[in-house]
Amino acid sequence: MAEEGLLSTENLVKTFGTLRAIDDVTLSVKPNTITGLIGPNGSGKTTLFNIISGIYSPDKGHVYFDGIDIDDLEPHEIWSKGLVRTFQIPRLFQRLTVLDNVMLGSQGNPGESFLGIFRNWGAWRRHEEEIAMKAMEILRLLEIDHLALSPASDISGGQMKLLEIGRALMSRPRMLLLDEPAAGVNPTLARRIFERIAHLRERLGLTFFIIEHRIDILSEHADKIYVLHEGRIIAEGKPEEVVNDPKVVGVYLGEG
Ligand SMILES: Nc1ncnc2c1ncn2[C@@H]1O[C@H](COP(=O)(O)OP(=O)(O)O)[C@@H](O)[C@H]1O
Ligand SMILES: [Mg+2]
Repeated sequence: MAEEGLLSTENLVKTFGTLRAIDDVTLSVKPNTITGLIGPNGSGKTTLFNIISGIYSPDKGHVYFDGIDIDDLEPHEIWSKGLVRTFQIPRLFQRLTVLDNVMLGSQGNPGESFLGIFRNWGAWRRHEEEIAMKAMEILRLLEIDHLALSPASDISGGQMKLLEIGRALMSRPRMLLLDEPAAGVNPTLARRIFERIAHLRERLGLTFFIIEHRIDILSEHADKIYVLHEGRIIAEGKPEEVVNDPKVVGVYLGEG
């Protein structure tokens, strides 16, 4: 098994036809850290998250979460172990309120059947109230509680990104995989999103593995950064080490 870490991968390989999208990736994310994953477009970042979250099976290698081999598990099984992801494009219900969107992230809904609700109305009401209170607490942590009753379609792109994190938090995860949580958001708002993430790490003891295209924004909060290029890890280390690594500079300059 790979070195200690809440999440680790060992020699992962994933091919699409002749393309080696993930090419022998071994990495480790320590508990209660913010670990970044950067790399140019098409370098395999989302594919790696798809493997870790169980959407794709690796051709080779393993994924371990909390010491358990999870690469044969289904996405919902991985989710229920406390490893939860968000998507590059937020998957929100536009017509529902912000609060409802967060409440939908709740794990399990006992008494969901109509007959169940009818037979046990009081318990169902209490359960719904508890979920709503939990959702409000999460919105407060994210500092978007003032938007609780707005339709999701009315909030800004940055707020949608926070809302998606909020929904992921409803299942009380231990670790979050965030795919570009600040994509398409201006630098000021992007910084605010990362400040909220850092706050969640402290308050809830969470572990984060975050894909972000912009090194500068990630560097302010990440404990460690992995750099992916053509499916391979070409650099890893503290932000200041990675930013000054000639291989990384080459890859990013080559892109522009
Ligand atoms: N389901 C798929 N089928 C075929 N090719 C894919 C699939 N998913 C990703 N790819 C390819 O794998 C490479 C890595 O993609 P991706 O992981 O989305 O990159 P990133 O998130 O770093 O921009 C790209 O060349 C992409 O076209
Ligand atoms: Mg991607």
